[in-house]
Amino acid sequence: MMPMLPVAELHMHIEGSLEAELVVALARRNGIDLPTYDATELKNRYRFTDLQSFLDIYYANLAVMKTEQDFYDLGTAYLTRAAASGVRHAEMFFDLQTHTQNGVAQEAVFGGLTAAIDEARASSGITAELILCFLRHLGGEAATETMRDALPFRDRFIGVGLDSSELGYPPSLFAEAFGIAGSEGLHRVAHAGEEAGPEYVWEALDLLGVERIDHGNRATEDPALVARLRDEQIPLTVCPLSNIALKTAPPELADHLLPAMLAEGLLVSINSDDPAYFGGYVDDNFAAITAGLDLSPAQVGVLAENSFTSSFLPERQKESLR
Ligand code: ADE
Ligand code: ZN
Repeated sequence: MMPMLPVAELHMHIEGSLEAELVVALARRNGIDLPTYDATELKNRYRFTDLQSFLDIYYANLAVMKTEQDFYDLGTAYLTRAAASGVRHAEMFFDLQTHTQNGVAQEAVFGGLTAAIDEARASSGITAELILCFLRHLGGEAATETMRDALPFRDRFIGVGLDSSELGYPPSLFAEAFGIAGSEGLHRVAHAGEEAGPEYVWEALDLLGVERIDHGNRATEDPALVARLRDEQIPLTVCPLSNIALKTAPPELADHLLPAMLAEGLLVSINSDDPAYFGGYVDDNFAAITAGLDLSPAQVGVLAENSFTSSFLPERQKESLR
């Protein structure tokens, strides 16, 4: 664990912090079959060729998540690790549909994660919020139904997002679900431009009304889009180690787009995405870019500052955490 500047983490999937050791422990606790009960052997299978090859393993592992206690343990493990490494505030994605499809009640998911957040705040001061992500591969109607079904828990999450398989699932399919979220006063974000091109980023902005773009790397291919993102200071939550693991960036960190994004005046922050799978937490991402890219200390400071600016914290609280 690397000590680092205080940051907010805005792009992490709480399910992506499920370490192999916890997969094995929960499988044993819940009597779930795994291909191996050796955490090292399980981790040796984490070799990805693209986003889908990762998602297949990520969803398979999530079959071990069954009870409110499981969600509490998962949330507590991440928040403890994050607080110890300098994260002051986290806006955590969760994939509700994965769990309800696995037969878990919404109450267990919300109850466990909310309890972990409340306890972490009391013990370390870290603040955290939840963002409900719709799974693209289940389609637009399922997203709308999920949005409606989650409304009794409206006060437990601050926004909605869009994740899972990107190619073939453009943002336009999810306009209805995002429309309901908007009318409920929920924040809106979406993964876009991770594997698909700039047109998915345009759609997320224009058809879903998102306030932040998750990843957004391929937005850089379209100068008019870059100008819009810069002029409106729409945040991009960039995930360097994820990009390398999923081959959405060149294999060498030295060739990552991050310095070009900063030079364009884009509001970029550094995030871990799925830390249990991609080689590290947000502090590890900062350590990697500091070692692998020619960034000045001032630029690293800007990235940390941007994470608060890009967050959904009230302005007053942003100031006090920086
Ligand atoms: N779900 C978890 N991690 C994801 C990612 N990087 N892209 C899309 N969906 C995800
Ligand atoms: Zn993500």
